[in-house]
Formats: sequence, structure tokens, C-alpha cells
Amino acid sequence: MSKATVKAPSNIAFIKYWGRADQRLFIPLNNSVSMTLSSCTTVTTAETIKGSSDDIQIKFYGKNYQKLKADSKKAINTFNLIQRVRKIAKSNLHVRIRSVNNFPADAGIASSASGFAALTGALLLAYGLHDKFDDKSEYSRQIRMSGSASAARSAYGGFVELLAGDNNQSSFTRQVADEHHWDLVDLIAIIDIQKKHTPSSEGHEAARSSPFLNSRIDDVKKRYPKIIKAIINRDFCSLGAEIERDSLSMHAVMLTQSPSLMYWEPGSISIMKDVIALRDKYGIQAFSTFDAGANAHVICQKKDAKKVQSHLLNNKYIKSLIYNEPTSGAHIIHEHLF
Ligand code: PMV
Repeated sequence: MSKATVKAPSNIAFIKYWGRADQRLFIPLNNSVSMTLSSCTTVTTAETIKGSSDDIQIKFYGKNYQKLKADSKKAINTFNLIQRVRKIAKSNLHVRIRSVNNFPADAGIASSASGFAALTGALLLAYGLHDKFDDKSEYSRQIRMSGSASAARSAYGGFVELLAGDNNQSSFTRQVADEHHWDLVDLIAIIDIQKKHTPSSEGHEAARSSPFLNSRIDDVKKRYPKIIKAIINRDFCSLGAEIERDSLSMHAVMLTQSPSLMYWEPGSISIMKDVIALRDKYGIQAFSTFDAGANAHVICQKKDAKKVQSHLLNNKYIKSLIYNEPTSGAHIIHEHLF
């Protein structure tokens, strides 16, 4: 029997992917780039066992361990991932999995990113597929095929791009710059930790019904090289403006697809306006971005983080802030969960 534990960070996309070219292989329609998040992580231990079924329990933020229910899309993706890894390893052993998440799940903080990156890594290692874990681009493909393509960006630390590609081989992640490259901060403003109404997986499927999807994809293609250059050159004014613009562009597609997806809450809009006021009135460079959820990610430079933090705490909608810096990607740890 073999046991392995992997710790993986979540990530926040600066250029987001929305819509998939291939729903079965989870191949995105556009390239995306993100930063890993130091305070939002998942630890997963997997051990192969001789039992008659797989035993999966997850401990979400503030909750006790729960058995994974077989009726959700996430559960289907998890069971499919286990089957796939077992098949590659030519094994008939079942697996015991325990996973612990240290931040609110399903609230636009990409809990599936850290979750699926850690789970895929722990499974590959428990089933003896070390070469597939050590080869990070292959590991990223394996994560993407788990059902959360954004999770593939958590294979590496720092600033990471997911190349959309056009087939299984060409769709993988690579590092743009490591976690020591640039001291950016993501302040996650928690306004609502209720579960979001529509999982992003369902949203991707309907993205093509928005009349704006194709214009967004063309626009991302044009802007993308500029954004990579801004990261490499640590040019925050250029990058920040693009981050905010890209979030608005993705949400414009979400809002206009059918059925319409409105992830924002009144608090989300209020934070967007506060962040604009920070720039316009006080000259502090901060920019907001939202994943598929209501909580805001406010991106700034470390030198401004304290000021941004105290300004945000005056916003009546904000319950708490999670401070994140870039961090290392998914890696093995030796403290197992059982
Ligand atoms: O994790 P997925 O494959 O369901 O995609 C989620 C995509 C967004 O989080 C909304 C944007 C992104 O690129 O992170």
C-alpha cells in the first residue's frame, strides 16, 4: 500500500478563461494567466487500499469531515479522476482520501483549483505514477482532465499561464515567473460565504450562448502578450488595468449568456467602486477582479497593502479579508492527514 500527501494553492486569474473548446477534455477556449495564493490551500492525502470501494472524505472550511456525496458534478469528476489514474497505473486497488481546505469553498476563491491540484497529485503519487507528477506540464494536463482547467495553473508557483492549445497535448500550463519575482498582494474581500448558485462547470457549457463570447476571445488574443510582458517587467499600472478589464469582460459574457449568470452581489459592486475611488481620490494603485463568485479579489503592490486593507475595512459589506502573496505550486509534504 502506498500513501502520499500533496499541498496545493488556489490561484487568482489575471486573464481568465471562460468557455471550453472541448467539454470532455476540459480544453479552454482562451489562454489564461494567474497568481498562486499563499493563504488559500488544500492538503490531500491518498492511500491505496485493499477494500471494496473508495473512501473519500473532505473537510471544508469551518466544517467537519464529510463523505463525498455521489450526486454532485464535483463528485462525478472526482470519481472519474480516480478511475482514470487507476487505469493508467493498471491497478485494481481502491483508495482512501482525506482532504482539508483552509478557506471558504465555492465562493469565487477557486477552491476547486487547490482541491483538484492536490487531489490529482496525491492520486498520481499513491498509484506510483511519480513520472507524471514530476513532469509538471504532464501533471498540469492530468489536473486539467480532472474537470477544473483553472486548477492546472496551481501545478506551478508564482505566475502561471494555461495555454489553451487545441488538443490534449498542447493544452497545459507553464510558469511565467516564480513566486519570488514580484511582491503582489491579493486581498480577498469576503462578503458572502454562501455557496454560489451555479457551478462554473455549468457556466462554461452555456458560454457560447452569449453574443459577446467571440469578441471577448478575440480581444484576449490581442491583449494577452501585453499582459505577459507586464508581468515579466513588473509593470503594475499596465497589468492592473488589464486585470480589472478582463474581469469585467468575463462577467459581461456570463451576464449575457443563457441562462444569465450574475455572480455579483450588491457588496461586489460596492467594492469595485471603492477600489476605483482608491485610485482616483488617493492615487493608490489597486484593481478588483472576480471569479465565478461574489467575493472580490483586490490586487495591489505589497507597499500599498496596509492602506488598501484599511480602506476596504470601512466597506460595510466586507466581513473579513484574506491576505495572499504569490506562493509555491503544488508539492509533496510529509505530514499525512491520517
Ligand atoms: O475551474 P474551472 O475549469 O471550472 O474554471 C473556472 C474559471 C474561472 O475561475 C471563472 C476563471 C479562471 O480562469 O480562473
